[in-house]
Amino acid sequence: MASADLNALEAKLAGEITSAADVAALDAVRVSAIGKKGAISELMAGLGKLPAEERKTFGAAVNQLKTRVTERIDVRKLSLESSALTARLATERADVTLPVRAGAMADGRIHPVSQVFDEIAEIFADMGFCIAEGPDIESDDLNFTRLNIPAEHPARQMHDTFYLNTPNTAHGTNASPFVLRTHTSPVQIRTMMSQKPPIRIIAPGRVYRMDSDATHTPMFHQIEGLVIDESTHFGHMKWCLEEFCKGFFEVEQVKMRFRASHFPFTEPSAEVDVGAEAIGKPGQWLEILGCGMVHPKVIANCGLDPEKYQGWAFGMGLDRITMLKYGIPDLRDMFSGDLRWLRHYGFSAFDVPTLAGGMSG
Ligand code: DAH
Repeated sequence: MASADLNALEAKLAGEITSAADVAALDAVRVSAIGKKGAISELMAGLGKLPAEERKTFGAAVNQLKTRVTERIDVRKLSLESSALTARLATERADVTLPVRAGAMADGRIHPVSQVFDEIAEIFADMGFCIAEGPDIESDDLNFTRLNIPAEHPARQMHDTFYLNTPNTAHGTNASPFVLRTHTSPVQIRTMMSQKPPIRIIAPGRVYRMDSDATHTPMFHQIEGLVIDESTHFGHMKWCLEEFCKGFFEVEQVKMRFRASHFPFTEPSAEVDVGAEAIGKPGQWLEILGCGMVHPKVIANCGLDPEKYQGWAFGMGLDRITMLKYGIPDLRDMFSGDLRWLRHYGFSAFDVPTLAGGMSG
């Protein structure tokens, strides 16, 4: 084939590329030119039959032709794709201000405990806290021992704690047994063992105790807080907890009472009550959480230097403050999976709590 024929082929292909009306038509042109049996591919396959000298110049010309045709196809493809997208965008308009259509999306409800957790996360995120998590099945070591809860402590007895029969073989045969965690405090340990201070986390989750009556369920929810650095103190904790209460109960002022208490993992320790006027019941106090300065032994048990680092922690029951805030009368109904209950007390997935827009929608 002479170079004039190459020019003619190029002109023909260029015309076909320009007039290809869509990506499929363009692809057909591509196959006819550089596909396995395409015109250009066939020319290349025939090169071997040419005399050496001719093969060199003609081969180079065919190669250049192939490059130019490929480029043309690519350019045309981009332009076809972009006009296809523009056409689609013009027809497929979504009006995001329309209400949700009836159906599963509109019917689904967020459980009040999840909603309250989102509210709490929003408040603490604003104060620079991250969210940490740990497993529901925890080792006795992390749930108790490293939290300075010695072997003879009452909380360890079978009476309170669900022990698992499955042996913990993670670290040899003498590994500590598995329990269903009785509080979210082991997440403190996991965090201190895996992160360098400064640490500022909250950790929500399910906890389990062998307890079941009108005000106790064997599974309930807690949220843990932990702050560790070189100088944070009890005053910082009081301020953070007060900010939390104001944000959560959506009041300008909140009365709080710190009562001296005892927890093995904090020293000093306190329990915190809030004045019930925050939920429209003046004159009463509501106990909402336990807290304190993290015990130096706990800090050391996590491999951190208690001479260098100090901090504070708190643990709060989520279910009770959910009931208080949203007027839910019976704890057991919270976990009975009754759709009528969820439709009544649940939240729309679109009621995302924000500090600016309001906590409870
Ligand atoms: N873990 C305790 C409980 O379940 C609550 C608690 C008290 C957590 C004081 C803390 C704390 O972090 O500092 O009863």
